[in-house]
Amino acid sequence: MPLVIPPLSTRLTTDRLVLRSARTGDVAELRRLLRHNHAHLHPWNPAPRPGEDPTSITEVSNSVLRQRREWKSGRSFAFMLALRAEPSRFIGKIALNGIMRGAMHGAYLGYWMNVDHQNGGLCTEGIRAVLDFAFGPAKLHRVQAAIMPHNPRSLRVIEKLGFRREGYAERYLQIGGKWEDHILFARTREEHPTPDGVGHEAALY
Ligand SMILES: CC(C)(COP(=O)(O)OP(=O)(O)OC[C@H]1O[C@@H](n2cnc3c(N)ncnc32)[C@H](O)[C@@H]1OP(=O)(O)O)[C@@H](O)C(=O)NCCC(=O)NCCS
Repeated sequence: MPLVIPPLSTRLTTDRLVLRSARTGDVAELRRLLRHNHAHLHPWNPAPRPGEDPTSITEVSNSVLRQRREWKSGRSFAFMLALRAEPSRFIGKIALNGIMRGAMHGAYLGYWMNVDHQNGGLCTEGIRAVLDFAFGPAKLHRVQAAIMPHNPRSLRVIEKLGFRREGYAERYLQIGGKWEDHILFARTREEHPTPDGVGHEAALY
């Protein structure tokens, strides 16, 4: 069955946001954003390997190259977010990770926002566009999310988006060196109204 991979140059726009993949020329801007958000993101991220600084030039450059490779091979689609009014300054990230094709045709949703841009509805607005992309051009059938029970802001985002709660996974992911329980949510193409009103019945292959 043919693999559907939208172009790496894909740009999504919403009322307030522009979303696109990171380029090698973005490394300095990405480092600024990651450093500024270190304390904000620390409780929700896997611990780095001993001695590794995820904000070093080497690590950020490698992660951009990895994201571009993974996009081109259809393994993940990662978008950086910026305000349309200030497109050169990133304010967050939304990614479709661990894409499985075959019988699954699904991905895991990951997201975070710059600490200074929270609570304005921007993350929800960005994820809506990424879901349109996932169920539209990327032709996925399922998008899953896993959230720690003590992350009320993320739970609120997923609730606003209308994800369906699927279950409770004990010791699901290792975050900050500890195996943490997560609540599992999902949304499938059948539950996602497409902007052009078509697609629910569209063939996957
Ligand atoms: C989770 C996160 C991405 C949300 O981004 P955001 O741009 O603030 O999201 P939105 O503004 O679209 O929605 C946030 C909602 O949480 C609500 N909220 C904020 N603090 C809250 C709290 N302590 N308890 C309950 N709800 C809260 C906001 O009021 C808003 O809901 P509303 O629109 O009904 O008012 C951001 O807080 C973040 O980066 N957190 C750290 C990383 C993270 O947790 N990533 C997700 C891992 S699963």
